[in-house]
Amino acid sequence: MKKKVYVAPSLLAADFRNLHNELLILQQNKVKYLHFDVMDGHFVPNLSFGIPILEALKPHYKFIYDVHLMVSNPEFIAPKFAEAGADIVTFHLEAMKTGNDVIKLIKELRLMGVKVGISVKPNTPVEDLAPILKDLDLVLVMSVEPGFGGQGFLRSALPKIEWLDEQRKKYRYQYVIEVDGGINAETGAQCVAAGVDILVAGSYLFGKEDIAERINGLRNG
Ligand code: DX5
Ligand code: ZN
Repeated sequence: MKKKVYVAPSLLAADFRNLHNELLILQQNKVKYLHFDVMDGHFVPNLSFGIPILEALKPHYKFIYDVHLMVSNPEFIAPKFAEAGADIVTFHLEAMKTGNDVIKLIKELRLMGVKVGISVKPNTPVEDLAPILKDLDLVLVMSVEPGFGGQGFLRSALPKIEWLDEQRKKYRYQYVIEVDGGINAETGAQCVAAGVDILVAGSYLFGKEDIAERINGLRNG
């Protein structure tokens, strides 16, 4: 049986003047995950949105809120996102000082009842995650430098996805694999073939007449 692939539209690319309709279109298309990019102007050279926006949306739009924290010192803010209604909280390996800090934050978030993900930037070897793979619900492979939507897909993400898929088969790990940046029909299919479960897509979906076909195209690899 073909495995199920999910699409997580990235809110960053939505038309904020028309946000209600943008989110309704996603719901009509049975989108489950909403990818919520948080940028702090320090870990990445851009700012986006934060907790008040999550709190405003969560009660009115049913999604799995997939929060991607592109922030320095995520140990301070990550628990606040868990409290505010995030379903998945993903932070960056590069933002953490020590392996012990990583494990501590994973445990703290778990206790709060959220799923926990870790993300790696394009230049970070995915093998750096080996010691903590068993503790993760999600691994997010960045296929662009984080900070901006609309960039081109970096093919270096593909062997990382393959490696993560091999590891979870070999050791029966439970995490799902997500990829983020430059996803379109072609790059999405390559990621699915490599073993990805969740495709984040921003500029490829929002503002497009044929968004329904695009979502289904991504799902069908
Ligand atoms: C980049 C963000 C992505 C971004 C993806 O820093 O993490 O989620 O919105 O946008 P596209 O799909 O346009 O590359
Ligand atoms: Zn993201």
